[in-house]
Amino acid sequence: MKVEVNDIRVQFGGVMPLDGVTVTFPGGTCGLIGPNGAGKTTFFNVLSGYVTPVNGSVRCDGVELLTMPDYKRARWGVRRTFQTEQAIEGLSVFDNVLTVYEHTAKGSRAEKKKAVDEALEFCGLLGVRDQLVRTLPAKERRFIEMARAVVGSPKVVLLDEPAAGLPDEETNELSVIIRSIPERSDATVILVDHDMALVQACCEWSAVLDFGRLLASGPTGDVLRDPKVLSAYLGEDEL
Ligand SMILES: Nc1ncnc2c1ncn2[C@@H]1O[C@H](COP(=O)(O)OP(=O)(O)OP(=O)(O)O)[C@@H](O)[C@H]1O
Ligand SMILES: [Mg+2]
Repeated sequence: MKVEVNDIRVQFGGVMPLDGVTVTFPGGTCGLIGPNGAGKTTFFNVLSGYVTPVNGSVRCDGVELLTMPDYKRARWGVRRTFQTEQAIEGLSVFDNVLTVYEHTAKGSRAEKKKAVDEALEFCGLLGVRDQLVRTLPAKERRFIEMARAVVGSPKVVLLDEPAAGLPDEETNELSVIIRSIPERSDATVILVDHDMALVQACCEWSAVLDFGRLLASGPTGDVLRDPKVLSAYLGEDEL
């Protein structure tokens, strides 16, 4: 499903973190990259309803997202992970996912519980289903975020640096999950990460933000070779 973004502008006082971003994400797993402060998280905040832009539209499947309140957007199928971990320490893995899903989905409690177990299985978490989050290592905590983002049938899944701080082997496991999301629920995934190997492994198509503007978009390999993109990253060690 395409995510058509038109002329998004966000203003915080004198700062314009998004300054007229127009881009169409073609579907599947798409990358959204750019240097620190480029506006990537702000872009997710706009799509998920945490930030109201001064201008712009986001259309998916014939629906305008920006006029929907955030809870309706979540119910319609916009899901996200956060750059900082959000798991609740004193709850089990299962309850962490159920707590989020309960408020976003319709249906009986039994149906919701079944969907949570499916999401845990998809993310390889069934083995720690009933453990308290506080007893778990970093990898499982991170994968809980993924399970919360994919539980049920999301339509747009926004992943904000899901691999930050994970070692290579666990990042590889995560990339298998990320690549499988679109076919699992026919969702469009937008992946923000500074790990270019992960973005290349997961995303055929990517867009690049820099200073709140679209710098480039297209096949990921082409975008990463684009001189404009290389120079935007100059001085950073991610490329
Ligand atoms: N609530 C806010 N008030 C004022 N300025 C903000 C606010 N949130 C973000 N900004 C500014 O907007 C710009 C974009 O920030 P954003 O967090 O979207 O960048 P990012 O691309 O996600 O960066 P990173 O890769 O470091 O996570 C930055 O200059 C940031 O300081
Ligand atoms: Mg960010």
